[in-house]
This record gives sequence, C-alpha cells and structure tokens, in this order.
Amino acid sequence: MNDKAAWSKFRMPTWEDDISLNHDSLAPFENSPPPTEIPVEKFKTADVLPEELLEGRPLSEFIQRDTYPIPALDDREGYNRNHDARFFITGLADYLKIRAAAKKYDVDLQSYFDFGCASGRVLRHFCAQSEIPHLWGSDINGRHIRWLNDYLPQRLKVIHNNCVPQIPIADHSIDVVSAFSVFTHIDTFETAWLAELYRVLKPGGLCYLTVHNDDTWKLLQNAGEENGLLKRFCQVDPTFEEQLKKDIPVERKCYRYTDVGPYRALVVHSNEYLQKTWGRYFDILEIRGKAHGYMQSVLIGRKKG
Ligand SMILES: C[S@@+](CC[C@H](N)C(=O)[O-])C[C@H]1O[C@@H](n2cnc3c(N)ncnc32)[C@H](O)[C@@H]1O
Repeated sequence: MNDKAAWSKFRMPTWEDDISLNHDSLAPFENSPPPTEIPVEKFKTADVLPEELLEGRPLSEFIQRDTYPIPALDDREGYNRNHDARFFITGLADYLKIRAAAKKYDVDLQSYFDFGCASGRVLRHFCAQSEIPHLWGSDINGRHIRWLNDYLPQRLKVIHNNCVPQIPIADHSIDVVSAFSVFTHIDTFETAWLAELYRVLKPGGLCYLTVHNDDTWKLLQNAGEENGLLKRFCQVDPTFEEQLKKDIPVERKCYRYTDVGPYRALVVHSNEYLQKTWGRYFDILEIRGKAHGYMQSVLIGRKKG
C-alpha cells in the first residue's frame, strides 16, 4: 500500500508515516494457504521459471519444502492478482537466479540481504529451500516486516527501515545483496542507498539489482497501449509517449506519482548513468535485459575493491 487513503482506514497517520509506511498497522492478515495446498504445478510456465534453473530437480520438491502461507494481494504489493501459485513461482525463479549468479561469479553464499523485500516473495525461498545461515530483509513498509516476523523462521532477521538511507547491518558482512523493483521507485538519496549496499557487502560480494534501463525503454517504445507499465508511465506523465519517441534520457529520471509519503515514483536509469554512477560502487559484470518480470533488467555487480 502506498497512499494515505489505503492505510488511513486502519488509523490516523503519525509522523512515522512521513518517513516509512504502516509502522504500527495491526490489521489482521488474510493469507492464502501455503504452496503445498494450491495447484502450483499448473502455473509452471517456461517464461517465469525456465527449466534449466531447476537443474533437473522436480518442482514438487521445492513445493513440499515451503509450508509458509501466501500473503494476500495487498500484503504482496499487488503481485500476481488471482495467481497465488504464480507468486510462489516467480519468487522461486528469482531465488534460483541469485543462486546461479553466485555460482557463476564464484561467491560462497553464506549471507544474503534483500533490500525492499516486501513480505518475502524471494526471501521465503531462501528460508524454505536453503540452509544459508545469515538471512536479512528490510522494507520501508512496517506491515511487510510484521508479516515476515509472524510467518518466516527466526534465522531471518528483518528490519523496518525508513526513507533516510541507513541499514543497521554490519560492515562487510553480506555475500549477496538484492533489490527487486526497489531502485525503480527510489527517487531521493539514491547514491546514499548505493553506498549502504556497498558498505554491508563483503569484499568481492555481489549486488543483484533490478532497473528500468535502456532495454526497458526499447520495450516501452515497442509496447502496445494495453501494456501495463506503459499505462502507468503515461498516467504519471501525460507527455510520456512524446518522450518515448526519443532515446532514453541519459540522466536518471524520476516520474513522481504522488508527493505523499516516501514511496512515490517510477524511476528510469540509462545504462550510461548506471556506469557513471553505480559503477563507482560496483564493477558492473552484466546488465541482463528483460530479466525481471516483463520489462525490468537485472544489474549484477561486484563490490569495488
Ligand atoms: C515493487 S515492490 C517489490 C517488492 C519485492 N522486492 C518483490 O520483488 O516482491 C517495492 C518494495 O520496495 C519497498 N521500498 C520502496 N522504497 C523503499 C526504501 N527506501 N527502503 C526500503 N524499502 C523500500 C516497498 O515498500 C515495496 O515493498
């Protein structure tokens, strides 16, 4: 939930809501049953979970290990309306992609931090599918943090952070940090957030961060008007279709959809900007086009020495 109307049904806003969301929302959760009780295999579509990620292991093994409930639509950022199974599968795919990236770049994955983790779409798989001892998640939405505290195991440590860039995780302690669809929304203090991720990573550690970049811009240029992301950009900025006739703006561009609260924009990063700015913190190993959802790219970087 990211607007005042949505959460004011629970209580009056307080100052904490100016710098975070739902810091004390106590409305009960209305979860769906765990993956073991829903027809997950039906949704095993090749575009979401490529066969090679499973490395020959049957999907049923992954399903059996995950006994946590599936959060309700409002408690999972609206992901996969009416498709609890797909929500499970996309998170599993992202988990497996991170494991594959760690293997490819020779990182022994013993500690993992998911920044902007929501209610654990990806983290739940680290809990259910791995024995990785040090798991961390943080989000600006306190309700997500309460969900994780209620349903995921003690091995996971969760933090309700606010919009001022500061994460209370020790220096040089994390092997891989991820942020799925988070820098696509951070409009202020981006470099300070990057510096925080840089600080917590161990030497040689990896970042796995999704962005709207040159690849996304090209996809938007060729998208039909029914495309969901294109519609969102056009709602936020009526001149967006005109802008799309040109190349992606070289400088990072924020499209603010509200001035309320700290979670309020769609953000676009050109590859040139990523190299110039993010490249100061991370050696950019790859930018994989269309590697997250239908429109986002994944930047994989290694902490600079
Ligand atoms: C589009 S959702 C993606 C959630 C999750 N990463 C996933 O892939 O399912 C963006 C998430 O980032 C969180 N967020 C936005 N700005 C944040 C910030 N400055 N610090 C931490 N979390 C933030 C939101 O609360 C939300 O949970």
